[in-house]
Amino acid sequence: MSSTFVSKGADGYDQFMGRWSRRLAPLFLDFAGVADGERIIDVGCGTGSLTFLIPDCANVSAVEGIDYEEQFVDALRQRNTDPRISARQGDACEIPFGNNQFDRALSMLVLHFVPPPDRAVAEMLRVVRPGRTVAATVWDTFGGMPSQRMFWDTFTAIEPSALERRGPALVKPMTSPGEMTRAFVAAGLEQVTGATLSIRMDFANFEDYWIPLVNGQGTLAAFLSTLPEAVQDRVQSAVRQAYLSEQPDGPRSFASVAWAAKGIVPDR
Ligand SMILES: C[S@@+](CC[C@H](N)C(=O)[O-])C[C@H]1O[C@@H](n2cnc3c(N)ncnc32)[C@H](O)[C@@H]1O
Repeated sequence: MSSTFVSKGADGYDQFMGRWSRRLAPLFLDFAGVADGERIIDVGCGTGSLTFLIPDCANVSAVEGIDYEEQFVDALRQRNTDPRISARQGDACEIPFGNNQFDRALSMLVLHFVPPPDRAVAEMLRVVRPGRTVAATVWDTFGGMPSQRMFWDTFTAIEPSALERRGPALVKPMTSPGEMTRAFVAAGLEQVTGATLSIRMDFANFEDYWIPLVNGQGTLAAFLSTLPEAVQDRVQSAVRQAYLSEQPDGPRSFASVAWAAKGIVPDR
């Protein structure tokens, strides 16, 4: 299996994460760069948060998206009106394109779901021409996502069975400091640089925070739904208290940090 991503459909994804990945996309594209005339691959394109932004930033010749989830590829295709954009089902560990086909390979919020992520980095390097760029970004799931940490820390405090799920949810491959830049160097990329990108996740009220979390998407929702209803109610009540923090219900804003890395494909 080359994906640990748990999907519940394109709409659930957009509610849970797509609304934030659309915020992250311009920052990542600023970091990764894009230029007129380029042919770009978006590895793990999902529903298109990055894919659709690319032609707005440069007059590219083509953007090819690949994603493991057929339903995301379908959703992206249905939303697409730009003839330069296309998408297909594909595995980051076996990118369905030949060598040296692209000017840039980009991957946003994907490598932490790919076992083994090094294989995906090697594949991105393979499909990009020498002298051109490979770039990726992943959430700092352990230290940079307080909105999800608040859930997991509260959950484990009242439900011991959540403990064994919290570790894998917060400590994902490629997400420790410097890990992705080291992987880029090890893959043979040159002039590797790293950065942190930060956005705010703004919720209108507790419901806006909670409903996408438990209904939409991901390992967290999948696990919670397996527990007895009484436990789910206790968890919801405790997380609500943490969200409110003795204040009236309403907007809350959480900083969210992503690691980014980029490098240049060497001559071969
Ligand atoms: C958090 S989503 C990010 C989607 C999109 N890039 C965005 O930022 O909104 C993670 C995506 O990685 C995809 N993915 C996970 N493993 C993959 C693999 N081995 N090959 C291709 N896509 C993969 C998932 O299907 C999912 O669409």
